[in-house]
Amino acid sequence: MITLKTPAQMAKMRESGRVVAAMLDACRAAVRPGVTTAELDRVAAEVLRKAGAQSSFLGYSTPPYPATICTSVNQEIVHGIPSPRRKLAEGDIVGIDAGAIVDGWHADAAITVPVGRVSRDAARLIEVTEEALRIGIASARVGARIGDIGAAIEEYVRGQGFSVVHNYVGHGIGRAMHEDPQVPNYRPTRGQPNPPISEGLCIAIEPMVNIGGPETRTLGDQWTVVTADRSLSAHFEHTLACTAAGPVVLTRPGEGAAVAA
Ligand code: MF3
Ligand code: CO
Repeated sequence: MITLKTPAQMAKMRESGRVVAAMLDACRAAVRPGVTTAELDRVAAEVLRKAGAQSSFLGYSTPPYPATICTSVNQEIVHGIPSPRRKLAEGDIVGIDAGAIVDGWHADAAITVPVGRVSRDAARLIEVTEEALRIGIASARVGARIGDIGAAIEEYVRGQGFSVVHNYVGHGIGRAMHEDPQVPNYRPTRGQPNPPISEGLCIAIEPMVNIGGPETRTLGDQWTVVTADRSLSAHFEHTLACTAAGPVVLTRPGEGAAVAA
């Protein structure tokens, strides 16, 4: 069941979106060779504490997700668990995924950050994935369909010689982190749901892009998702509101003023 949000509810989600943006900004600034992913988790938790907000991720699902953010290094696609034993090194890329709850409303966003100097392939993967997110957001117009988002993302990414992950998708978001509809990063096949984009729809679009094939594996910790061929992977995500005036990103600093009540 898809629940559409009122402008006042979108304004609430913009508040959690601001906190998520601050978490990601602080983590990005903390990324350097030698830092551990557990230190990034503490940086994000401190931003939440100061904002009086809660993590959308901590305790989520079964087994309960054990950290504030997800940190996914190199061949890790999503849901990497921060650890004091995981020290970032020059040349790594790290995906940082954060969600915050303010007053019962969720927002969710992710970035992928180079650690020091990285290979040209890694830098291009990051660029292409961020551009894929931009293209997806631009496709989220009232009157279009959810499938138009994934179709645009997939066409762009394939044209760049990379693959999009199918096993994990974006999602509706609001009072829960995961609401209907699912938001795939690929063109829906006949028979797959393809609901229209209505005014008030709030979604998280989150392309996951691999240099190699799209297949995934989950590690023994039951969370960390890696590329089956161990090729590099990148992930970007924003939470946005679909309005008559176009998509409004709720998780970018300075944006989303249009939905403020
Ligand atoms: N942003 C991710 C998502 O949309 C991360 C959630 S996984 C969690 O699904 F367990 F860490 F919560
Ligand atoms: Co998400």
